[in-house]
Parts: sequence; C-alpha cells; structure tokens
Amino acid sequence: MPDFCYNYIMKKILVIHGPNLNLLGEREPEIYGNFTLEEINSKAAARAKSLGLEADFFQSNSEGDIVDTIGAARKKYDGIIINPAAYTHTSVAIRDAISASGLPVVEVHLSNIYKREDFRRKSLIADVCVGQISGFGVTGYALAVEALASRPE
Ligand code: DQA
Repeated sequence: MPDFCYNYIMKKILVIHGPNLNLLGEREPEIYGNFTLEEINSKAAARAKSLGLEADFFQSNSEGDIVDTIGAARKKYDGIIINPAAYTHTSVAIRDAISASGLPVVEVHLSNIYKREDFRRKSLIADVCVGQISGFGVTGYALAVEALASRPE
C-alpha cells in the first residue's frame, strides 16, 4: 500500500542518467557524493514502490541512445526523470526529444548547477520539463519521484 494517497494515473516511470554518471561513487565525490549509480537507482526504486509506481532505469554516455530512449518511452511510460549530465548544457537533440515525447519530465542534478561554472548554469532542457531539482544529491531523485507521483493530471 502506498504510504500516502496520490492519484494512480502515473504508473510507470523511466529514470535516465546521462554521461559519466556510471562513474558515480568514484567520480568527484566532493561534488557528486559517494553513492554509486546502482545505490541511487535502488533508493529511487524504493521511493517509487512506496508510492505505487514502477520505475525502470537507463544510463548512457551517448546522446543518440538517450534521444532514442526518450522517443521509445512515449508509448511505454507515464513520466520521465532525467539527469542529462553534461548534455544538459549542450543538447538541443535531447531537448527536442523531451518536447516531442509529450510526457511529464523532471530534470534532476546531484549538484547545484547554479553554484558552479558559468557553462553549467544554463540548462537547455529546463523549460521543456515540468520542473527541475538541483543540488540535493541522491535525495533529488526521490523528490523527483514524488513530484511525478503527485501530478494532478
Ligand atoms: C550534473 C551536473 C552537470 O553539469 C555535469 O556535467 C554532470 C552531473 C549533476 O548531476 O550535478 O555530469 O548533471
């Protein structure tokens, strides 16, 4: 039984991780924390389950694979959580895939991109997402799951 009562229209979500996030746990832990991607996924999956949602996970270092995965998600999922990593700041293709999907998408960053280098302060996907969570580390994914689960429509 879910731990609080949301609507149940949102059933299946896809969590997408971009380039170099496969290295979490070892990669600049002072910025990105000590959790591995597997640990992050299992925490997000547990939060999803507690809310009555099913979550699948995908990581790629390739922009094209991420675009293909978003395109294929349209018919299979009710919402997407994405951390496009470095592609956040460069990828018109991922932005267009998000727009084309018609799905509610939540953007997540482990670090607070607005406290970092200038080039990280611009997200090309922020305005085609329903919202952005940035700077809360691993907790950001659980918050994103809650955000999707609590959407009214
Ligand atoms: C990141 C921030 C990006 O600027 C960076 O390229 C990443 C991770 C984050 O989660 O904080 O790889 O998306």
